[in-house]
Amino acid sequence: MKYGYFDDTKREYVITRPDTPAPWANYLGSPEYGALISNNAGGYSFAKSGANGRILRYIFNQFDQPGRYMYIRDNKTQDYWSASWQPVGKDLEAYKSECHHGTAYTKMLADYSGIHSEALYYVPLDQTYEVWNLRLTNQSAEDRELTVTGYAEFTNNNNYEQDQINLQYSQFITRTEFHENRIRHVIHGNLDWAKEGEEVDDELVIDRFFALTGATVDSYCGDREEFLGRYHGYNNPQGVEKGQLSGEMCYNQNGCGALSTVIRLKPNETKDIAFLVGMKGNKEAKEIIVKYENTTQQCEKELNELITYWHGRLSHFQVQTPSAEFNTMINTWNAYNCFITFIWSRAASFFYCGLRNGYGYRDTVQDIQGIIHLAPEMALEKIRFMLSAQVDNGGGLPLVKFNHNAGHEDTPEDASYVKETGHPEYRADDALWLFPTVYKYLAESGNMEFLDEVIPFANKDEGTVYEHLKRAIDFSMNRLGVHGMPAGLYADWNDCLRLGKNGESAFVALQFYYAMDIIKRCAEYKKDTQYGIYLDEKKNMLGKIINECCWNEDRFIRGYTQTGEIIGCKTDPEANMWLNPQSWAVISGLASEEQADTALDTVYQRLNTEYGAILMDPPYYKHAFEGALAVIYNAGSKENAGIFSQSQGWIILAEALRGHGDRAFTYFMENAPAAQNEKADIRKLEPYCYGQFTEGKDSPHFGRSHVHWLTGTASTIMVGCVEGILGMRPDFSGLCISPSIPKEWDTFTAKKEFRGKHLHIQVYNHNQKESGCVELLVNGEAMKGNYIPFEKMTENTDIVLTIS
Ligand code: GLC
Repeated sequence: MKYGYFDDTKREYVITRPDTPAPWANYLGSPEYGALISNNAGGYSFAKSGANGRILRYIFNQFDQPGRYMYIRDNKTQDYWSASWQPVGKDLEAYKSECHHGTAYTKMLADYSGIHSEALYYVPLDQTYEVWNLRLTNQSAEDRELTVTGYAEFTNNNNYEQDQINLQYSQFITRTEFHENRIRHVIHGNLDWAKEGEEVDDELVIDRFFALTGATVDSYCGDREEFLGRYHGYNNPQGVEKGQLSGEMCYNQNGCGALSTVIRLKPNETKDIAFLVGMKGNKEAKEIIVKYENTTQQCEKELNELITYWHGRLSHFQVQTPSAEFNTMINTWNAYNCFITFIWSRAASFFYCGLRNGYGYRDTVQDIQGIIHLAPEMALEKIRFMLSAQVDNGGGLPLVKFNHNAGHEDTPEDASYVKETGHPEYRADDALWLFPTVYKYLAESGNMEFLDEVIPFANKDEGTVYEHLKRAIDFSMNRLGVHGMPAGLYADWNDCLRLGKNGESAFVALQFYYAMDIIKRCAEYKKDTQYGIYLDEKKNMLGKIINECCWNEDRFIRGYTQTGEIIGCKTDPEANMWLNPQSWAVISGLASEEQADTALDTVYQRLNTEYGAILMDPPYYKHAFEGALAVIYNAGSKENAGIFSQSQGWIILAEALRGHGDRAFTYFMENAPAAQNEKADIRKLEPYCYGQFTEGKDSPHFGRSHVHWLTGTASTIMVGCVEGILGMRPDFSGLCISPSIPKEWDTFTAKKEFRGKHLHIQVYNHNQKESGCVELLVNGEAMKGNYIPFEKMTENTDIVLTIS
């Protein structure tokens, strides 16, 4: 079953059936002022922190309510509906709607009883409030009188838990007032002898507002219970039913903003109004409202600004292949998903409530990879920040607080850090993610001076970027286990593998091997010969150890437990085959060709399913060792044999690096949201964004996906597709193009911005091969192999690569 389609020209996903299998959401604004909105207008808003700056209420794990509701009532018939299908939920025979999720805006079109409505929701670029612009057109033959009511449900406390749980407190600090065209919602209003936003005895006087522009307020209500009416719901608020709000304000209980205006429309006449929401004092609110006097123009201008900004961001890499699903993901949706994870980290979604007060080290460093080819300057800023969260011992802080104070932070060795963040120990992989990320940045931007930039460490001292990378090598080197592979510590990439100081992680060993390869390239660039020799020796040794201790006939094992038992041995009754060590053996360059192809075949045979490869098999049940925390999950879910979507990116990349275009593309299609558009009832999640995992074959809901939007999947798949399938592999001196595509692709084109040059790339594959290069022409000149030195690039560079 299908609920919508991709409009690639507008970069929108258009939902044509509003009764989607789950709320299908979009992101507006930024964490400075963030708003989530579903296709039925459900969702919440916050300033700075999802957990501590919550403005609009949303009940998690419920029926996608409440939301940003705009009700329309025909005053003659007294019939009413909403600009989004829910909450009123009219019969879909009579109510026709479309929800257009775009880049940082959502527009809902509805047609009901001769009235066409367009509800546009957005946060203006760089602003910290939101706009709900409603445009109404009378498409009937009669004059119509409509009462339009906007409804915003405020939280009673900035802290969402206090709002939900501590009612004996939060309900009695809240009140609302009406001023000319707006409801003012005040928390701690009784402290208002202090100035707005000023702290009084640890309490802040907090102001929110809900305003109407483009029309006058005819009636209003600031009290939720009064607006809804006893035993009414959002589908039939008494204030809307009556067509007149009571004027009651909130003093205790629950504050809300409800504003009604009467709109008269002649046939074919259109009118625009807008509701505004923000966390602003009275004065600032007034200033904002004034800007919208000319509602139509202001909203159109702001929407265009958003589109220009976002489409500009996405335009730096665009591809046309024979696969519509691939194009829409790489050109728009996966790219936008990468920006969203890059900007929002794991701050807020319908699954993350915002409680995590910081950035996860590994997640954030990985997220950066997804946008490097689109916005290297944005990546640079975040890389700096993450390097400044590296402790002087080389390890990453497991959680980097939003108010991170580089040079002065406590570390997991300090009780204070543990108390504040809940992270008691280092994780084995965190700082090792810096290697691919920094490398990709250097190669994409050509900004090699960055290696010499001095950046503080999290706790004390400072060092160049090169020094930071060296310390990350030291961190792992100083924490080797009995076989000489990196210890697994509190976790490696897999949060559910706790191998401790004595257990060892094959995954981290491979990551470490790869890291040494990357820093070797930096050492060569810096002519640091001594260090280069040291690296060669250590890397060779590690390579030997991995081969001796981890290769198991047709696969790499997953590691060793604290007591020295093998994890992922072929003969184990459970978890005897793992995905990541196979893909990483290839990515790291450790696996021989034979090992690589054997391991990848084993993955395909043992782990692949129609929705992607499962993380391991069989799931843990009776035979979990002590550090195998995944056993707590239902079989086929998350780390316990779920299809962990992030890992699909690595298997795509690994197959592509081996030149197996068909397999790489198969893995892409199995888990690509766009490729599941027609299977929305199985996948459930939005067909335009990735989720954390898909339930594996051991689950009765095989194929159902979870935890939308904020996932490392976005960046690993992007890298798997751009570097892997499309083969765009910059290095310090130029660009290698090495596509691994499905045999049936006879051609593709790509437009790439690269260090200020515009590359126009055309790839031909006349003889149905999966990879290779018989000729590479750059502005008509033949290159050696498939490599383009940067000096060969002109402002506009025409590149023609023939695979076969
Ligand atoms: C979640 C975590 C990520 C971890 C992964 C696997 O996605 O955010 O840090 O690597 O699970 O356990």
